[in-house]
Amino acid sequence: MSFPIQRFTQAATPCYYYDMALLRRTIDSLKAALAPYPHFHVHYAIKANANPRILECLSQAGLGADCVSGGEVEQAVACGFPADRIVFAGVGKTDDEIRASLKAGISRFNVESLAELEVINELAAEMGVVAPVAFRVNPNVDAHTHAKITTGLNENKFGIAIEDLLSCIESAQAMANVRYCGLHFHIGSQILDLEVYETLCRRVDEIQTMLEAHGISTPTINLGGGLGIDYDTPDANPIPAFNEWIGRIAKHLKVRQGQEVHFEPGRSIVAQCGTLIARTIYVKQGHAKQFVIVDAGFTELIRPAMYGSHHAIQNLSAEERGEQTTATYDVVGPICESSDVFAKGEVLPLTQRGDLIAFRSAGAYGEVMASSYNCRHLRPTIYSDEC
Ligand code: LLP
Repeated sequence: MSFPIQRFTQAATPCYYYDMALLRRTIDSLKAALAPYPHFHVHYAIKANANPRILECLSQAGLGADCVSGGEVEQAVACGFPADRIVFAGVGKTDDEIRASLKAGISRFNVESLAELEVINELAAEMGVVAPVAFRVNPNVDAHTHAKITTGLNENKFGIAIEDLLSCIESAQAMANVRYCGLHFHIGSQILDLEVYETLCRRVDEIQTMLEAHGISTPTINLGGGLGIDYDTPDANPIPAFNEWIGRIAKHLKVRQGQEVHFEPGRSIVAQCGTLIARTIYVKQGHAKQFVIVDAGFTELIRPAMYGSHHAIQNLSAEERGEQTTATYDVVGPICESSDVFAKGEVLPLTQRGDLIAFRSAGAYGEVMASSYNCRHLRPTIYSDEC
């Protein structure tokens, strides 16, 4: 990726930079992967990045929105997603969030418990409407990813256990103000082993066969998101292999007559177009180590501190200078916590005070997870098409 370094030199840092052309190319590639399958539809998972410019780009491209809070539903509506392309998931929807979503006329609730189903039915009855509900099923499939971002195992809080599914659907069918419209699965995030999706497709088929034996047909299957991206070499793989992901599912999922298949990727659409730009405040010589201390911290990008993730790091100023010598640094932020570390033992070109540092692949779960801890201010954003 090429960066408008002149623009950054004048900018207040830290800031987020979005390459809007890459975002558009990524969306085009996703749409091309979906094109052979008219019954496949994508709802972008807003939790990955809820920046209005990004959301507008995605809504204009005709994608739907997958939301996990009332705030996300509001943001989706404000950024142009039509209500009939908005879905609302999450284990703890409050009464107010449910009422507001019913009022907005969203396309479905992904329900995660019988208790929630009862509340939706009650609130929909009060409002004189019928709520479309899909059930999130916990398929007990191991996503082979980081423990903190795996969701489809029995030990996780998400979804309804397969053994309880039939009785939940039968309860829904007996209720006057909900309508059963589908099954929802999401087994985890940053999944690189596509075989996991084959296992999921087999599990989905078993579940549907079991339901069909009880006379229940399922209009929509939602397979969630989770496709991983290349954090190590983002320039080698700026756009994920959507066609392999979608193609693998198309091959292995036994789609029923008239059935729709939904996907809700987040990370794979927005991660690579975003970069966190920081400035080097000090290069500190410790006894055993050298530290590059930058003005961004886990308040701007929490993934390294929270999941031990590594984002590729570039010293943009040293690249511009043509610096040939390298050195090994721990790259750290200014927050008063020892976990405020971006990388240990990072080999970078010789770094100086004032150098601009890029933390790559920060478009997903970067800006959206920012906090004001230490009374830090939320950060500005620069878009490539405004440079
Ligand atoms: N659908 C549901 C129900 C989800 O829970 C998630 C993500 C997605 C879709 C989108 O998954 P994606 O395509 O982005 O993998 N903060 C963590 C990731 C948490 C993911 C939470 N759920 C990180 O920075 O790695």
